[in-house]
Amino acid sequence: MKDLLKFVTCGSVDDGKSTLLGHMLYDAKLLYTDQRQALELDSRIGNKDGRIDYSLLLDGLMAEREQGITIDVAYRYFHTQNRSFIAADAPGHEEYTRNMAVGASFAQLALILVDASRGILVQTKRHIRICILMGIRHYVFAVNKMDLLSYNRESYLKIQKELEKIIDEISSEAFQKQNASAAVLPYESVYILPVSAAEGDNITKKSGNMTWFEGCPLLEYLETVDVTYKNSGSGFMMPVQRVVKPQSRCAWKTSSLEDTNFRGFQGQIENGLLHTGEEITALPSREKAKVEEIFVTDRKVETAVAGQAVTLRLDKEIDISRGSVLVTGKGPDVSSMCTAVLLWMDEVPLLAGKNYYIKVGTKMLPATVMSIKYSIDVNTGMHLPAQQLQKNEIACCDLVFSEKTVFTSFEQNKALGGFLLIDRISNQTAACGVIRHSLRRSDNLTWQETTIGRKERSEQKGQSPKTLWFTGLSGAGKTALANEIEKRLWKMGKHTMLLDGDNVRMGLNKNLGFKEQDRIENIRRVSEVAKLFNDAGLIVLASFISPFERDRENAREIIGRDDFIEIYVSTSLKECERRDVKGLYRKARAGEIPNFTGIGSPYEVPENPDIVINTEGKSLSENADDLMRQLEKWLL
Ligand code: ADX
Repeated sequence: MKDLLKFVTCGSVDDGKSTLLGHMLYDAKLLYTDQRQALELDSRIGNKDGRIDYSLLLDGLMAEREQGITIDVAYRYFHTQNRSFIAADAPGHEEYTRNMAVGASFAQLALILVDASRGILVQTKRHIRICILMGIRHYVFAVNKMDLLSYNRESYLKIQKELEKIIDEISSEAFQKQNASAAVLPYESVYILPVSAAEGDNITKKSGNMTWFEGCPLLEYLETVDVTYKNSGSGFMMPVQRVVKPQSRCAWKTSSLEDTNFRGFQGQIENGLLHTGEEITALPSREKAKVEEIFVTDRKVETAVAGQAVTLRLDKEIDISRGSVLVTGKGPDVSSMCTAVLLWMDEVPLLAGKNYYIKVGTKMLPATVMSIKYSIDVNTGMHLPAQQLQKNEIACCDLVFSEKTVFTSFEQNKALGGFLLIDRISNQTAACGVIRHSLRRSDNLTWQETTIGRKERSEQKGQSPKTLWFTGLSGAGKTALANEIEKRLWKMGKHTMLLDGDNVRMGLNKNLGFKEQDRIENIRRVSEVAKLFNDAGLIVLASFISPFERDRENAREIIGRDDFIEIYVSTSLKECERRDVKGLYRKARAGEIPNFTGIGSPYEVPENPDIVINTEGKSLSENADDLMRQLEKWLL
C-alpha cells in the first residue's frame, strides 16, 4: 500500500501557489489522479455493494461538505512512484482564515509560500498560527520567486533567519499557553528551501541556479518526509465506523463473511497493530473480548496495522455500536468535558451555553459550548476576552457532551481529537476544531441511584409527570392560560407546579437579564428545574417567552422528548401590543426597554409545536377548554 500525504498549501493571492503545484506536476509528469482512484488507493473497506465509503477516507470536513458547508477549498489528488498526495488549496480571498483552517484541519503538513521579493508579511505569520492551531505538526516553507532576486544567497539567508525567528516566537507562544505537564512543541519538522515556481528551480530537480543550497528539492522532500505521529502511544486503537449485523449479507467471498449470522465491526485502525487472538477493550463500555478473525476487505489476515481498514469478528457479544472505540491497553480518555480550540464558521455568532451536535471520531451526539475562555487574534497570537464569537474567529472554549465519550487530544490522534459542531436546527456545520485536553471535573461525579425515583414518586401521585411548555410573546396570555389549566388539574386531584418567567427572574434567575446569552441561561436553568419537578412526580406548567427555537430544543433535550409538550400561545404582536397589560410595549417603543421581545429582539415562531392556541377573539375559558381537550392524550 502506497502511503498518503495530505497537505495544505498556504499563500496569498500572488505568492504563486498554483504555479508551484502546477510546475511540480508537470515536471514530474504527474497527472491529477482521478478522485475515485485516489480513494481506492487508500484501500479502505467497500461497503456491501462494493462501493467505497467516502467518509472513511475523507477525514473531517471533506465528507461534511455535503452537510452544507460552503467552503472554497479545492482538493487535488496525485501520486508519484513513492507516495500518494492530496493537496488542499485554499484561495486567498476574504474568507481566507476559514478556508485555510478547513484545509489545515485535514492536513498532516503545511506548505507555506513566502514571496521572496516581498519578504515575510503579516499573513505569513497568520498562516503559521492557523496551521498550529489546527494541529499541523510538519511545515515546509517555500521561499518563492528567487529568480526575481537573481538567486541571491544572502537575500535567501536573511529570509530563512527571519522565518526561524518567527517560528520560534510563535511556537513559544503556543508552548507557554499549554499547561506545563502537557506541554509539547507545536511542531515536529520544519524545512525551508529557496524555489522559483515560475522557472522550476528546486521544485522537482535541484536548481543549477542555486548550487549554494544543499537541501533536496520540494517534491523529493514531500515524498520522503515522515509524518507519522510520534507521541500517540503504541496501543491498538480503532473507532467503530459500522457494525455488520447478522442477516445484512455482504458481498464478501470468505466463508465466514458469507455467513448470515456474521456480526463484525468495521473501521480504520488509527493506531498500533492487532493480531488474531488478542484481547481488546471496547470504550466507553470497557467490556472485553478476544479477536477471532481480522479481514482486510475480503481477505482474512493474522495481523493488521494503523492505516488499514478492517472488519473484526470477536469471540463474544459485547456492547459495541458506531462510535465505540476498540483498544488494547488503557486507551484514550472517556469523559464528558474538554477544552478545545475552534474556528467559528456560522453567520450567527456563537454564545456560551448554546447547544449543538458534535461529531468526534465516528460518533455524533449533543454538546454544549459551556464557556468561551478567550478568542485568539491570528495576526498577533494575543488572547482576547470574548463574550461571543463572530464568523471566522478562533477561540479556546470548554465543551460538555451529553454523555461520556471517547476522545483524545488532537496531538495524540487526529481522528479522535478533531471535531465538528453542527447546528441542530439548520444542520449546517457551525465550527471545526481540535481538542486540547479533557476536563476531569465531571469524571469524579457519579450518578447516584436512589431507591425512590421518578417512577415511584409519580405512581404514588397517580399521574404521569410532564412539562407543559408555554411559549409566546410577552402579553400573549401564557401565564393566564397556564394558571387556568393548573386550577383545572388541581381540581382533578393532580399534583402540579407552575413556573413563570417574571417570578423565576425574581428569585433563582435574579442575576439574568434579557440579552441572548442571559435568555439561554434562563431557559437552561428553568429546564433543569422543570426536570427536577418532573422527577418529583409533578406536572409542570412552564410559562416563558423562550423566543429562540434553539433554546426550546435544548429544553426539550434536558426535560426529555417524551415529557416535553410545547404549547405555542400564538397571539399576534399587534394584539399583544394592543393589550399591553404590563405597559411594557409602550416603554419598549419609547426606547426604555432594550431587547424587548417583538420590538428590539426577535421571537422565533415554533415550527412544530405539539399544540397551538390562538387566544384572539376567544375567552380564557374557551381557550382552556380547547387546551384541556388536546392535553387529554398526555395527561389523563
Ligand atoms: S425569556 O425570553 O427569557 O424566556 P421570560 O419569560 O423569562 O423571558 O421573562 C419575560 C418577562 O420579563 C416578560 O413577561 C416581561 O414581563 C419581562 N421583561 C422585562 N424586560 C423584558 C424584555 N426585554 N423582553 C422580554 N420580556 C421582558
